[in-house]
Amino acid sequence: MKEYNLTTKMRSYQWDELSDEQRAVVAIAKEQTENSYCPYSGFHVGAAAKLANGIIMRGANQENAAYPSGLCAERTALFAAGAQYPDQPVTHLAIACFTDGHFTKEPGAPCGACRQVMLETEHRYGGKMEVLLYGEEGTYVFESAADLLPLIFVSENLKG
Ligand code: THU
Repeated sequence: MKEYNLTTKMRSYQWDELSDEQRAVVAIAKEQTENSYCPYSGFHVGAAAKLANGIIMRGANQENAAYPSGLCAERTALFAAGAQYPDQPVTHLAIACFTDGHFTKEPGAPCGACRQVMLETEHRYGGKMEVLLYGEEGTYVFESAADLLPLIFVSENLKG
């Protein structure tokens, strides 16, 4: 038997410690919580994906009466980016959550399916995608989507 310890790295920043570029992407994710369609959960999630050409794609969670048919905010942004700008690497992805009349104190943690999609996005373009999770008490910054999913499944794994 062998035991492995998988470690990962993230940093927590106060608003004024973020760069102007980071603040701009996070601000759009915050703004996007207003476009969330979440009549079932009441949990508003906004996302912003910045592309290498500087364009920022907007996302928001979209729910459905047939619950599994809905989609998380970050995937709406990443899929819109892939569909409209397939050749543009995504350099930054920001997410913000708003519920009960305020942004969450702690950042929302992306679900497993979103982490998998983030990883594929990063892999697809061959560079790191910075992930920013906004919380009122601090923004978590991951240098790479891979830091959110240490044991990965990517296209190479399909080859055995
Ligand atoms: N949700 C997101 O949009 N992103 C996440 O990272 C976590 C969860 C959405 C899905 C659903 O519409 C609502 O939040 C409650 O789970």
